Amino acid sequence: MPQHMPVLRDDMVNAVMTDPDGTYLDATFGRGGHARALLRLLSSKASLVAIDRDPEAYQAAIDLSREDSRVHPKRGIFSELSSVLSGMPRDAFSGVMMDVGVSSPQLDDPERGFSFMRSGPLDMRMDPDSGESAASWLNRVELPDLVKVLRTLGDEKNARAIAISIIKKRPLHTTTELVTAINGARSKRDPRKHSATRVFQAVRMHINDELSELTRGIDAGFQHLADGGRIGILTFHSIEHAVVRKKFRDLVSPFVPRRLPVRGTSPGRATYVVKAKHPDSSEANINPRSRSALLQVIERIE
Ligand SMILES: C[S@@+](CC[C@H](N)C(=O)[O-])C[C@H]1O[C@@H](n2cnc3c(N)ncnc32)[C@H](O)[C@@H]1O
Repeated sequence: MPQHMPVLRDDMVNAVMTDPDGTYLDATFGRGGHARALLRLLSSKASLVAIDRDPEAYQAAIDLSREDSRVHPKRGIFSELSSVLSGMPRDAFSGVMMDVGVSSPQLDDPERGFSFMRSGPLDMRMDPDSGESAASWLNRVELPDLVKVLRTLGDEKNARAIAISIIKKRPLHTTTELVTAINGARSKRDPRKHSATRVFQAVRMHINDELSELTRGIDAGFQHLADGGRIGILTFHSIEHAVVRKKFRDLVSPFVPRRLPVRGTSPGRATYVVKAKHPDSSEANINPRSRSALLQVIERIE
């Protein structure tokens, strides 16, 4: 089975582990790199709910549950966590881990269509059994909407020219056809970055509704934490870093409008455990995918 190198593995598991006998949630199981490291810190009484939206990741969680009875696999998405976890108490978890974005097995499989380096069908769905494929969306999207996605989710300066080129080259069916459309709009090449990096990232984030999923995942994950429980989130993109930073800041020091008659400062519902941790240079050298990673962790304190 293809492998994934977990990013900031020990920092994540050491930060979210609060009770060796507790119940934990890994909401992005992938190939279980973080989950296995956490399980090594837990006692035989502990349990770990392992969730992923991807069918192969879910299968990997089932395989691990056959070796380790503490593991309880579930297939689902952040935005439906409450129904995926139905039957569990509201404050079930001593710790929650989310390591968002795509895994190496997803990127490395040409049939999934995530990579501009491999030719394959233009799919990009983390759950290929639901939602619209990248090809289907790109073949129907209108110019202003495409420009907006490339700008906001890809930080793409050439968004308009690329969007026009994509629309001219329709219908697109493969990753190679999308790369050709992008190259057709580039006047200058950035030698440090492949010309398609930003566009593939933007389309993937749109197709999987990743920002909205992240926001809803933080809310649901935090709601299911016990007092003193911790939630740790690994993000790989400046927009995602900012979403988590803002959500966590609001939980640590909630905003109270000045005109409300509240004396003193409003008590927060959380405290920082790890405000911002990036991989060090040795990890970044071994695992280039980790270079843009950021870990943020808070603890619930009601
Ligand atoms: C970076 S990988 C996680 C790797 C994992 N921590 C490991 O060590 O193997 C991200 C995983 O999260 C899953 N995922 C991303 N967004 C999700 C969402 N909204 N709901 C459920 N799973 C999601 C992806 O399918 C992928 O398998």
